[in-house]
Amino acid sequence: MILLALETSCDETSAAVVSDGRVLSNVVSSQIELHAEYGGVVPELAAREHLKNLLPVAHAALAEAGISPAQLDAVAATQGPGLGIALLIGFKAAQAVAFALNKPFIGINHHEAHLYSPWIRNAEHPLGANSSAAETGRTDTRHSGLFADFTRFQPNISLIVSGGHTLLVLVESELKHRVLGGTIDDAAGECFDKTGKLMGLPYPAGPIIDKLAEQGNPAAYDFPRPLLNDLNDDFSFSGLKTSVRYFIRDHAALLDDRQKVCDLCASVQAAIVEVLVKKTIRAARRAGVRCITASGGVTCNSGLRNELARACKNNGFTLRLAEKNLCTDNAAMIGILAERKLLAGAPLLPLDEEIKPGWQLV
Ligand code: KG4
Ligand code: ZN
Repeated sequence: MILLALETSCDETSAAVVSDGRVLSNVVSSQIELHAEYGGVVPELAAREHLKNLLPVAHAALAEAGISPAQLDAVAATQGPGLGIALLIGFKAAQAVAFALNKPFIGINHHEAHLYSPWIRNAEHPLGANSSAAETGRTDTRHSGLFADFTRFQPNISLIVSGGHTLLVLVESELKHRVLGGTIDDAAGECFDKTGKLMGLPYPAGPIIDKLAEQGNPAAYDFPRPLLNDLNDDFSFSGLKTSVRYFIRDHAALLDDRQKVCDLCASVQAAIVEVLVKKTIRAARRAGVRCITASGGVTCNSGLRNELARACKNNGFTLRLAEKNLCTDNAAMIGILAERKLLAGAPLLPLDEEIKPGWQLV
């Protein structure tokens, strides 16, 4: 089966070609710079940018894969959750392609797709990593595809942690999962971005805090670890953000001292990471699983990667972190899940089906 997948749920325009569990191409055009001056994603701008970039990105994905439209067996797109007018661009375009080629169409839940990204293994690009990035300004990578034996690691506990979402999911078996908990207010990535904004850092602040934290003392300032001791799998990050706000209000001069900013970054990161790691480990213990996975933009965070690795080692869990280029939104994970679903006989979607911006995983 050869499948084209499109992803436009937020601020990445992405297209991938997937075949038999292999990612033949995965082209991602990020809009980060466009939204930076507004301090966050502006839905109308995101949609316009998707509209502009989707066709070149899809053409590039087909060209990289060496596949012509006529060779496609199916088309997939993210149906939700996400920004409505952004989702609409990729979803309707994919339906149009399916209609024109008279091929099956399937809509994918973005979060369910994130569950697959830790199981996609990077391979050496035959032309070198990101070979076309210099010419096109896009990232473009090929992957060897799904681990053949990934079902051996089910059941597992999966942490999905991004700018919009923080979820703990029990993956019971292939295509069968249950959400154990999620954030009751801000997502972890949002907490990174908003506390960074309070420090005067540009959007998205997460990666910058990560870098500055490397030179800081994580024990310099003590911030709350919200819901850490609650025996549920929910998260809350808005109180932490508020406490950073008051701390900066009361210690404004600190922002003029680079070392103190590094200490502040390290301390904020330590608070976020401790909650994420301890609650994930606790959920895994309670569920009796042997494997933990993580994906989503915040999984790029070096503190989170290191602490999860250490905690998993100490507690005897196998850990699978998504490769950094697959932590953030991409169509490869959409295509991989779509293919698994089609092979399992999942129902096809009619071509007048609509997007589901609020589609939550349950
Ligand atoms: O998954 P993603 O690309 O988009 C969605 O939000 O769906 O995640 C973006 C989020 C942003 O909040 C960004 O600050 C955060 O991931 N992020 C990081 C790092 N890299 C990206 N947060 C902390 N440390 C990082 N290295
Ligand atoms: Zn995502």
